[in-house]
Amino acid sequence: MAHADLLKSLGLGEFNSGTYLGNGEWSKTTDAGLIEANNPSSNEVIAKVHASSEADYERMMERALAAQVAWRNLPAPRRGEAVRLCGDALRRHKDALGTLVSLEMGKIKPEGDGEVQEMIDIADFAVGQSRMLYGLTMHSERPGHRMYEQWHPIGLVGIISAFNFPVAVWAWNAFIAAVCGDVSIWKPSPKTPLTAIASMKICNEALREAGFPDIFFLFNDAGTELAARFVDDTRIPLISFTGSTRVGRQVGVQVAKRMGRSLLELGGNNAIIVDQTADLKLAIPAIVFGAVGTAGQRCTTTRRLFVHSSMHDELVEKLVAAYQQVEKRIGDPTDPATLMGPLTDQASVQRYLAAIESAKKAGGTLRTGGKVLDRPGNFVTPAIITGVGNDCEAVQTETFAPILYVMPFEELDEAIAMQNAVPQGLSSAIFTLNVRHAEQFLSASGSDCGIANVNIGTSGAEIGGAFGGEKETGGGRESGSDAWKAYMRRQTNTINYTDALPLAQGIKFDF
Ligand code: UN1
Repeated sequence: MAHADLLKSLGLGEFNSGTYLGNGEWSKTTDAGLIEANNPSSNEVIAKVHASSEADYERMMERALAAQVAWRNLPAPRRGEAVRLCGDALRRHKDALGTLVSLEMGKIKPEGDGEVQEMIDIADFAVGQSRMLYGLTMHSERPGHRMYEQWHPIGLVGIISAFNFPVAVWAWNAFIAAVCGDVSIWKPSPKTPLTAIASMKICNEALREAGFPDIFFLFNDAGTELAARFVDDTRIPLISFTGSTRVGRQVGVQVAKRMGRSLLELGGNNAIIVDQTADLKLAIPAIVFGAVGTAGQRCTTTRRLFVHSSMHDELVEKLVAAYQQVEKRIGDPTDPATLMGPLTDQASVQRYLAAIESAKKAGGTLRTGGKVLDRPGNFVTPAIITGVGNDCEAVQTETFAPILYVMPFEELDEAIAMQNAVPQGLSSAIFTLNVRHAEQFLSASGSDCGIANVNIGTSGAEIGGAFGGEKETGGGRESGSDAWKAYMRRQTNTINYTDALPLAQGIKFDF
C-alpha cells in the first residue's frame, strides 16, 4: 500500500473503523459497507473505512449522551484546558495531518498545513473563549429584583462537514462546542474519512491521556440512511451542516420540522470588484489565489470579477499570463512545487466542463484554461471567461471548480448591484484606493455578504471573525466573534430578594 508510513504515523492502516464509540473504543463492525478513501490525483484507493451500522450509531449516541451529562458540569475553563491539549497535539501532528489532508482532499500541502493551522488557531481561540462565555445583566423594573442571563450548554451537537475543508470545519464546531459544554458527533464527508479518523485519534488520545472524558464522537455512513437519521434525531438539538445549498436546504427543513436548530454553511458565489484606482500589485495575486486556490473548491473561492471598464482588458491580459504560470505547476498536491491540485472526482470534472460550455453558449469567450489534463486523476486547467452577463446560468451557479467570470462595469453602484444579484451571499471584496468606494462597499447599501473585504481577496478568512453568509449561504455563523452563542442555550433569570411579590407591568392580582 502506498503512503503506508504516513498512515501509520497517524494511527491508520489499510482498513479502518469509521466509528468512535467512546471509552477509547472503535467499533469492530465490518458488515455495514466499506468507504474507499480515494486519492484525487490518481483515483487510486488510499485506504478503506468500515462504515457504521445502526447498532454502532445507537451505541455511540448512548455514550455521547452520558458523556454530555458529565461534561456540562465541568467548569468551562477546565473544558478549555481539554481543548488546549487538543491544540498542542495538533501542533505535534501538523506536518503529517497536513500531508494527509493534501493527499486525500487534493489541496496543495501548504493549504493542507494551513488547514491544520486553522484547527490549532481555533483551539487557542476556544481556550480563551472558555473564560468569556459572558451573559448580560439587566436592570429589573421591580424593586429588589435582580435580572441577568446565563448561557448553558445546548447538549449534543451534530457536525456534518464537507470534503473541501475536511478537518478545519470540524474543529471550528467541535472545539467551540466543547468549551460551551457540549459533546459533538461528527459525520465527515465520505470523500475524506481518513483525515477525520486521524483528527479524532489525535484529539481523543490527548484527552484520554490527561484523564478527560470523551467529548468527540465519529461515525461514517456508507449511504445516506444514518445521516438522515442523524439529522432527524431529536436527541441532537443542534446540527451544524457545511455543504451544498441543495443538501443544506433539506437539512434545514428536516431539523426545523423537529424544532431543532441548524447552523448552515452553504454555497458561495463570491465576487471581487476592481475599481479604476485599484492597486493591481495586490489585486492580481488575490484574484489568482482566490480563484485557483484549492482548485476553486472553497466555498469562499472567487468566482466572479467585476472590473472597471478602463482596466478590463489590461487586467484580463495579466490574469491570463498569471494563469499560464499556474498551469505549468498543476499536479501532485503533496509536491512542494505544485500550485494547483486536482478536483475531487470525475463528476466535478464533468461539472467544470458543462459550466464552461454553458457560459460559451451564453456568449462567453474562454480566455485560458478549460482543458482536462491527460493524466490519471481529476486535473483541469483554471479557466477565465469574459463576455458573459452576470445573469446567465453558469455565472449564477456555484460550480466547485476553478472558473472565473470577468465582467466590466462603469459605475460602482452597478458593480455592487451585480455582485449582490446572485442567490448566495458568502464572501466579497473590493480592490480600491478610493475611500469613498471602500466605504460605500461596506455600507448598508453595499455588499450583502457575510464577509466583505477591502484590498484582500474573498477566501482565506481568519478564524477570529464569525464565518458564514446570507441568503442561500444559509445564514449560519461559525468560528470566531460570538459564534459560540449558537452552541449554547440562553436562560434569563430574575431573582427577587425582598419579602414582597410585585408583578411586572404594574399588574395587581389581589386575592
Ligand atoms: C469552506 O470552504 O467551507 O475562508 C471554508 C476560507 C477558509 C474557510 C473556507 N478559512 O477560505
